[in-house]
Amino acid sequence: MCGIVGYIGVKPIKEILIEGLRELEYRGYDSAGIAVLQNGNFSLFKAVGKLVNLEEKAKNFESDGFSVGIGHTRWATHGKPTELNAHPHVGHNSYVVHNGIIENYQELKGMLTEEGVRFLSQTDTEVIVHLFEYRLRTEPSALEAFTKTLDQLEGAYATLLVNASLNDTIFFAKQGSPMIIGRNSEGEIFFASSDAALIGKCQEVLYLEDGHYGCATGSEIKLFNAHHHEVPLHFTPLNENKLSAQKEGYRFFMEKEIYEQSQVLIDTLMGRLRDESIYFEELDAALFDGIREIKLCACGTSYHAAMVAGYLLERHAKIRTSIEIASEFRYREPFLTPDPLFIVISQSGETADTLESLKMAKAFGLKTMVICNVDNSSMVRLADASLLTRAGIEKGVASTKAFATQVSVLWMLSLFLAGERKTLDTAEIKRQIQLLRLLPTTTKVDNDIHEQLRRLSKRYLHGHGFFFIGRDVFYPLALEGALKLKEITYLHAEGYPSGEMKHGPIALADPELFTIALLPQHKLYDKTKSNIEELSARDSTICSISPLEFDKADDHIRTQHADDYMLEFFEMMVVLQLLSMEIAVRLGNDVDMPRNLAKSVTVE
Ligand code: M6R
Repeated sequence: MCGIVGYIGVKPIKEILIEGLRELEYRGYDSAGIAVLQNGNFSLFKAVGKLVNLEEKAKNFESDGFSVGIGHTRWATHGKPTELNAHPHVGHNSYVVHNGIIENYQELKGMLTEEGVRFLSQTDTEVIVHLFEYRLRTEPSALEAFTKTLDQLEGAYATLLVNASLNDTIFFAKQGSPMIIGRNSEGEIFFASSDAALIGKCQEVLYLEDGHYGCATGSEIKLFNAHHHEVPLHFTPLNENKLSAQKEGYRFFMEKEIYEQSQVLIDTLMGRLRDESIYFEELDAALFDGIREIKLCACGTSYHAAMVAGYLLERHAKIRTSIEIASEFRYREPFLTPDPLFIVISQSGETADTLESLKMAKAFGLKTMVICNVDNSSMVRLADASLLTRAGIEKGVASTKAFATQVSVLWMLSLFLAGERKTLDTAEIKRQIQLLRLLPTTTKVDNDIHEQLRRLSKRYLHGHGFFFIGRDVFYPLALEGALKLKEITYLHAEGYPSGEMKHGPIALADPELFTIALLPQHKLYDKTKSNIEELSARDSTICSISPLEFDKADDHIRTQHADDYMLEFFEMMVVLQLLSMEIAVRLGNDVDMPRNLAKSVTVE
C-alpha cells in the first residue's frame, strides 16, 4: 500500500524521486513526501493528497550535482493522513521512510520519551529515526547505530534512513516488506519497494531478503544478513515490462490481490485488536446511543459482506440487523423508523446506488456509517462515521481483498458492539480476538491447494451450470463464490443455501450440474453433509471443500483443520477465488478486465 524510493547520484533528484513515486501510485496512497540531502543540508517536502500537491510544494527546489534522497507515498494506517504523519520522518539530523508496522513502537516510544525525545507524529515509523539517533550517541559508527536500531525493532519493515553527517549514504533494511536496490552503468544507485519504480532507470537489481540491511554510497554497497555477516551482492538483470512489474510477478492483478490478502489483513487489524476488546480509533461511542437496529446496505460483493455481517451482528451483539441491496432499497419506498444505524459498505465509496441510499438515509435523519476502502471517497465524506478497510488499491474488477477486509472489519464491529452491549462475555470476545489474529496466516495461499485447483479447473469448463451451496455465513460465501465465477468465466452459477436445494433447484441435478459445496467442520456439518448427499444421489458432480474427507464427492479440496468456523470461512474464501481464476485462465478470458464490467459502477 505504501511506496518507497531512494536515489544516490548526480541527476536532478527531485524529479527522479517523484517519478519513482508516480510509478508506485497504483498501490494507493493519501500523502507523500521526499527528503534530499545535499552538502550536509536537508530539504524536506510533504503533502497530503496526490503527487501534484507534492510537486507544487517542491516547485522551487532544484538540486545541483551529487545528492542523496528518499521518498515515500503513504496509505494511512497509524494516524490520519496529515502532513505531520506523512513520511519522511525527522529526528535532529536524520530522516526515515518506512513501509510495514513496528509492532513494539509504543514500548520504544515510551522508552525514548523518558529519554527526552519529542515525537511529532502519530506514526509507528517515527521511532526508527529517534532510536537511530539515540543509538548514535553511544555507538562508534552510524552503521553500528543503525544495526542496533534494527535489533530493537519488532514487526515488518522496509526502511531507508539518511543522516546529515554522512551526506553520501543511505542506510537500508528489509524485514517482511519488499525492498530492491538498483544500479546502472552511470554509477547511480536506486532504491524502491517495487521494481515498477526502477524500470528505465537501471539495468540491474538486487532483491533484498528478510533480515538484509546495510548502507550504500555512490561508490560502494555494503550488505549484511540477519546474523550480521557481510554477504556478496547478487544483482540480476531487471525485467523491463512495467505492467508485469506492477503485478509483482503474478499473472494478473486478481492473482496478486488474492495472494496479498494475508498482508493487507495485517493492516486491517492493526491497532484495532486489544486483548479483550476491539478498538476503533475512528468511532465515537455516542454514534451508537439510541440505536436499536442496524441496517446494512450495499451492492455486489459488498452486499455479500453485509450478509455475513447480518449473521455476526445478531449472533454476537444481539442487535436486530437487516440487509438491503442498494438498488432495491432506493425505490422500494422503505418504511424507516428513526432508531437504526444505517451502514453502507463499499470498496470504492462511489457506487451510485449505494451512495444514493446513503443520501436517502441521511435525508431521513438516520445516523450513518460507511465501511469503505477509499478514504476521501464520496461515501466517506458524506457518512457520519467511517471505518476504512485498508486493503490498498484493488485493480482486479473481481473483488477479492476488498471482501476479505470488509468481512474482517464487520466481524470486529460485531465484537465491538458485543462488548459495548455486554452480549458476549469477556472470555468469548478474547477468544474471537485470538481468531482474528490468525487471519493473516489463514488467508496465506497454500501452494499445494493452488496447484490442485489449477489441475482441477480443467474438469469444470463446460456443464450447464454451477451451484455454490453453504449454510449460515457460508451461504453468502457461496453467493460470493458464484459471483466470482460468473464475472470472470462467463459460466452460469448460482449461490444457494444448502437447505433450500430440495425446494426446487435440485430438479436441475445431473452429471453436468457442478455443485461446489462448502462443508465446514464447525458450522452445521451434518446438516450440510446431508444436503450434499441429496445432490450426489441425483448424480450432480460434487466438488466439496472441507477439512474432513467426504466420500460422496467427485473432487475434494481439503482445507486445514481450524478451531472455528470463521477461520474456515476465510480459508474457503481463498479457495473459491482461486478456483474461479483458474477456470477463467483455462477459458482464455481477461481475468482482470472481464467483459461488460467496470470496477466502479457510478451509474445506476
Ligand atoms: O465499490 P463497491 O464495493 O461499492 O462495488 C460494489 C460492486 O459493484 C462490486 O462489489 C462488484 O460486485 C464486484 N465486481 C464484485 O467482484
